[in-house]
Amino acid sequence: MKALILAGGKGTRLKPLTNTLSKQLIPVANKPILYYVLEQVVEAEIRDIGIIISPETGQGIKEAVGDGSRWNAQITYILQSEPLGLAHAVKTARDFLGDSSFLMFLGDNLIQGGVRSFVKEFTTNKVDALVLLKEVPDPRLFGVAELNEKGEITRIVEKPREPKTNLAVPGVYLFTRDVHQAIDRIKPSWRGELEITDTIQQLIDSGKKVRSHILTGWWLDTGKKDDLLEANRIVLDEFMKRDLRGEIDAASQVAGRVEVGKGTSIEKSTVRGPVSIGDNCHIRDSYIGPFTSIAAGTTIERSGVEHSVVLENCSIRNIERLSDCVIGRCAVVTRRGDGFKATTLFVGDDARVEL
Ligand code: TTP
Repeated sequence: MKALILAGGKGTRLKPLTNTLSKQLIPVANKPILYYVLEQVVEAEIRDIGIIISPETGQGIKEAVGDGSRWNAQITYILQSEPLGLAHAVKTARDFLGDSSFLMFLGDNLIQGGVRSFVKEFTTNKVDALVLLKEVPDPRLFGVAELNEKGEITRIVEKPREPKTNLAVPGVYLFTRDVHQAIDRIKPSWRGELEITDTIQQLIDSGKKVRSHILTGWWLDTGKKDDLLEANRIVLDEFMKRDLRGEIDAASQVAGRVEVGKGTSIEKSTVRGPVSIGDNCHIRDSYIGPFTSIAAGTTIERSGVEHSVVLENCSIRNIERLSDCVIGRCAVVTRRGDGFKATTLFVGDDARVEL
């Protein structure tokens, strides 16, 4: 059994962060999303792992993951020259996959409780494919599955206007080598992509058994800003433990499940967990509220930050209250102290500023 993790794509919906950083490396609770995916794949006892990368952000992924020895896994990088769809990514990985069955996992998805049980279910039942499903309130935004009484998928429709069920297809699939023939038979969709939903429908139409497993825990797709904040909230809520390694002065209050990294100083400030603060940060005269992740090297002075994700080496000064923010690496966010009520911006491409 092999695994194929998809870490290419454009990441348009997370611009400007994804102009320079692949979306799979954006941290959730101060850990890149891709690391959670790798942990879950290895936990399912799969160690031969292919990672799809794009020409634009592939180098960053290689630097972050390396040869995989940190996870006791062997990594093969597969360059997809253009993001022409999830099934196109599988086609690109054909040589790596060979005749092996494989777990396919989107590199920006998080699944509660991991995928070990699905891999077991797939190998024990000897089906041709197993697709994870999740009940969602508005299935019109997703691939939607219809099932028979045995739990086999009978039909799968991409973003239907009138969905027949509320069962969405998230980003985890298990396939046998039969998937390659199915991909050879499908055509690009109206958006010019080889779709994995069309591939699954092709498997069904050619009489293959496509089983489903309905996920009961959470599923998080981190592809948009609010989804990223929600992922950060849920992961902090579920996994954060109190672990204070930095220096906290007597005038500060650090309450609840808060992680403070090495070399970090907290002075005259209040921190209310769950919060993750990385190494070498400086927090002074500030309030850090629940569901906030602050990456290494960031300075926050005379400011309040809550329900936000702040990446490395940022500087935030004199901002009364930041909420629901995602702030990219090395960003400087300050209020000028000269008494003018003017807003002064020096903002990069694709930035969004809400005042
Ligand atoms: P998407 O989120 O559907 O696509 P995207 O990354 O291009 O994002 P956006 O719509 O904001 O532009 O992709 C899901 C995952 O699959 C994500 O981790 C990127 C990866 N992917 C590939 O590796 N190759 C591809 O051709 C596509 C479409 C996605």
